[in-house]
Amino acid sequence: MKKVEFGSQIAHVGSTEELCVSLADEVEKLIRERAAEGKMAILGLATGKTPLPLYAELVRRHREEGLSFANVVSFNLDEYEGLGRDHERSYWAEMWVNLFDHVDVVEGNVNVPPSEPEDAERAAGEYEEAIRAAGGIDWQLLGIGGEGHIGFNEKGSELESRTRRVELAKRTVEDAADDFGGVENVPTHAMTMGVGTILDAKRVVLMARGEGKQEIVKRSMEGEMSADVPASFLQKHENMGWFLDEGAAG
Ligand code: F6R
Repeated sequence: MKKVEFGSQIAHVGSTEELCVSLADEVEKLIRERAAEGKMAILGLATGKTPLPLYAELVRRHREEGLSFANVVSFNLDEYEGLGRDHERSYWAEMWVNLFDHVDVVEGNVNVPPSEPEDAERAAGEYEEAIRAAGGIDWQLLGIGGEGHIGFNEKGSELESRTRRVELAKRTVEDAADDFGGVENVPTHAMTMGVGTILDAKRVVLMARGEGKQEIVKRSMEGEMSADVPASFLQKHENMGWFLDEGAAG
């Protein structure tokens, strides 16, 4: 694994396996340190394809090395509007299938933004409040969308944005079409943490894999910070790591 510095940004470049070991090490250290202090570890988690091998590695450490998630509180970045928890494409379901079902997390400590809130603004405020009440996010995992979204903070999302209801960009809907059996089945809206919410985390890591992410990673790390590429605001974070495979790093 290589550590490369770009101005103020730090990229860790390696194979998917190396990236996952390194990220799982961070999570494990945090969980174990907090457990030793009798405290909870507050994780911010992402869905999508990128983190799947990382979640597999965490499950392996739980099974084979006794890594316990009993002191984990998690907050997911986002959720599609209108997909209940029993919908297989809901991010709630994806998190259970890929991680939570296989570890000893307490269900009541798992938080995913609500998919069908009666009052979206109020629900968004409550999500923010729950994060604050937990003491803030210790470690936030991100993927990146083809146009630079983090969470579902699409182009135009400002630095100060907080958890809110958003409309999905055309590209995001198109990217999800295969999973939903056609663009017409993809939800048009979602609830997402804001850029500001993400930047409040004590440590932020963004994972990107594959050549398809190369151009947007470059623009996010080296381009001007702007709402045109919401991931570019990550340059502001003082404890930010970019975890890239060879394809994404280019
Ligand atoms: C998912 C999320 C999104 C994804 C991004 C990349 O919770 O917040 O920002 O991280 O769309 O998706 P994949 O990993 O499928 O390329």
